[in-house]
This record gives sequence, structure tokens and C-alpha cells, in this order.
Amino acid sequence: MLDKDIDRILFSQSDIENRVADIAAEINRDYAGKSPLLISVLRGSFIFMADLMRAIDIPVQIDFMAVSSYGQGAQSTGMVRIDKDIDISLAGKHILIAEDILDSGKTLSHLMALLATREPASMRVVALLDKPSRRTVDIRADYTGFEVPDEFLVGYGLDYAERYRNLPGVAVLKREVYAT
Ligand code: IMP
Ligand code: MG
Repeated sequence: MLDKDIDRILFSQSDIENRVADIAAEINRDYAGKSPLLISVLRGSFIFMADLMRAIDIPVQIDFMAVSSYGQGAQSTGMVRIDKDIDISLAGKHILIAEDILDSGKTLSHLMALLATREPASMRVVALLDKPSRRTVDIRADYTGFEVPDEFLVGYGLDYAERYRNLPGVAVLKREVYAT
């Protein structure tokens, strides 16, 4: 069972559903008359983007990128490797990058610098979770679900060593699971 490794649930499925609906309403307003391209940064954000896109009621396109930064551990290395790139041209598109969590900000800043070179019409970021206390790069999301404390979180797509993604809500992982 996954439950034995969980310290506590921070956000239940319905907490998240409510917040996702708020964010979707903002996106509907901000992008009225446009058709943004949502880019899910795999793998952590796939559940968030799946829920978010269904709460949005303007036309959207989706695509996926995969970058690795954390490997199997709990600390960002600061290195970002593109494991899977987008298949289509971004030129002239309004892109909205969907992230699971903004931690140090390194992954996102590298990714945004890369995508900016492809000349999108606009680029914004939607992050389910934000750990501002951990930021080392001056970067923020345009839309944020929840600010969270400096603890290691899993569930709703977020993993530790590829586990716990299937927990329905966001939970704090017990320190003894990842402390070495
Ligand atoms: P950053 O480059 O330090 O901002 O790291 C961002 C990425 O690290 C996220 O997209 C996650 O994949 C991962 N990450 C950061 N904090 C957590 C966490 O608490 N739980 C699970 N993954 C995390
Ligand atoms: Mg991620």
C-alpha cells in the first residue's frame, strides 16, 4: 500500500478540482478569442493538464515535452535534459506550459529559454503547486494552484522515484522514505 509512506494529505481530489476550475475560468477569460497550446511537462503534470483542459471551454491544442532534472532523487541537479520534444512548430502560437510543481525554478527557466527561441506569440506558465521558499531562479508562474511548504510532495502525478503518482490527491511523503 502507498498509504503507509504518507505523512498527511495536503490537498484532496476535490480541493484540487475546485482550484483547477478557478484557474480554468481565468484562462478562459485571458485567452478569449485565442486557441492556446497547452504543453504538459511530463511526467508529473499529465494528470493536472488532463483535468485542466477539460475545465477550459475555449478551443485548445495540447502537446507534451519530457525533461529530466531530478533523476531518482529528491534534489534538483540544475541540469535539464530534453527527453521528448514537441512535434509541432511553436511560431506564432500562444503557449501555456503546464507544470506540476515549481521548486528551485531551474527546470522551468531552462525550458522557457529554449521555447522562447522558437518564437511563440506568447508564453505563460500554469503550475499546480508552487514552493516559493525553494526558489533559486527569479521565475514565477502566471497561474498557480496552491503555494506549498518545503516538504516533499507526491500524488496527483507527482512522484518520488517514479512511485506514488497514482495517489488521487497531493500528499506529504514521510521524510524517512527519502532521507538517506
Ligand atoms: P525545479 O527545477 O527545482 O523547479 O524542479 C521542478 C521539478 O522537480 C518538478 O517539475 C518536479 O518534477 C520535481 N519536484 C520538485 N519538488 C517536488 C516534490 O515535492 N515532489 C515531487 N517532485 C518534485
Ligand atoms: Mg516535473
